[in-house]
Amino acid sequence: MKIAVFVSGGGTNLQAIMDKISSGEIRNVEISEVIASNDSAFAIVRATKAGIPTKVISKKILGDAYDDATLEELDRLGVDLVVLAGFLSMLGPKTVAAYSNRIINIHPALIPAFCGKGMYGIRPHEAVLAKGVKVSGATVHFVNENYDEGPIILQKAVDVLPDDTPETLQKRIMVECEQVILPKAIQLIADGKIEVVNNLVRVKP
Ligand code: GAR
Repeated sequence: MKIAVFVSGGGTNLQAIMDKISSGEIRNVEISEVIASNDSAFAIVRATKAGIPTKVISKKILGDAYDDATLEELDRLGVDLVVLAGFLSMLGPKTVAAYSNRIINIHPALIPAFCGKGMYGIRPHEAVLAKGVKVSGATVHFVNENYDEGPIILQKAVDVLPDDTPETLQKRIMVECEQVILPKAIQLIADGKIEVVNNLVRVKP
């Protein structure tokens, strides 16, 4: 299965995917390209080091041409799956429609809590601590036209600890949740074990 990975920042999720492909924990998956929303994303350095092609497709620079440019690039690559791995922007409607149930996203909270527009990066963790909830985690879901609303594929939770800061909680969720369930979801899809029925995900045995 050929995938394109979209990134915006540090690229720890991208690194987890690349490491698990190298170690054989992810099988039959090849990253065709890493596509960044901005040219200063450290994820580009990680991809280049691993010998993976990179491209910057910036909504800020392209404006109205962004959606077509993204779609053209994905069609040129011929990818089977698009993985948003720390992608802090939003794909255009044509791209989302053309790749329906073929785009997945990792969100750093337990959807439907602490998600939606503006809830990205460190912000869900700040909101979790402000609310005083006792568990948080991460969610992998298919992407539809609304923020964080598509069918949920996998979730993993951790306890929120009394002395957590947004940063300690973010780190624990990245390592114990995101870097576990995103590679796992990719493998399930590569193995043909995920189907969407009535807008809900069913994992085949
Ligand atoms: C991750 O925590 C990811 O879940 C989050 O941004 C961080 C990027 O880390 N994504 C979102 O908030 C998307 N709504 P990374 O670049 O090191 O993988």
